[in-house]
Amino acid sequence: ALITILNGPNLNLLGKREPEIYGHATLDDVKALCGARCEALGHDMRFLQSNAEHELIDWIHTARDEAAAIVINPAAFTHTSVALRDALSAFEGPIAEIHISNVHAREEFRHHSYVSAIADTVICGAGIAGYGFAIEAVAAKI
Ligand code: DQA
Repeated sequence: ALITILNGPNLNLLGKREPEIYGHATLDDVKALCGARCEALGHDMRFLQSNAEHELIDWIHTARDEAAAIVINPAAFTHTSVALRDALSAFEGPIAEIHISNVHAREEFRHHSYVSAIADTVICGAGIAGYGFAIEAVAAKI
């Protein structure tokens, strides 16, 4: 089955952006990790990143027809976007929300997520390894 993995704004800068918080691995490294995990579990992967809210929403709509599960790091849209949450609510398969950093140990505005209440799984603070855990969680529900 297909697992769609979505990455929100600024994650294209992973490895260069605030490495003391997000580490030195790049988004290509994350893609390689995710690809290996999906393959090991016998699933196909679509790995996408956008800085634009509407593009992420359109990809979630596409996933309704094509994907069995969604893994999403909504990045800053986690804390702002009702539209992203509504799009995810319209997806019927399992959803895992993942954050590289422990958002609860950071600024107050990162403590609330619009996505968590409608996600099946929420992972944060495990670094990029969290993507692998998120894939395993949704794969167990497919
Ligand atoms: C993040 C945490 C968010 O608060 C932040 O806006 C990000 C990345 C993470 O992966 O730790 O861009 O989602």
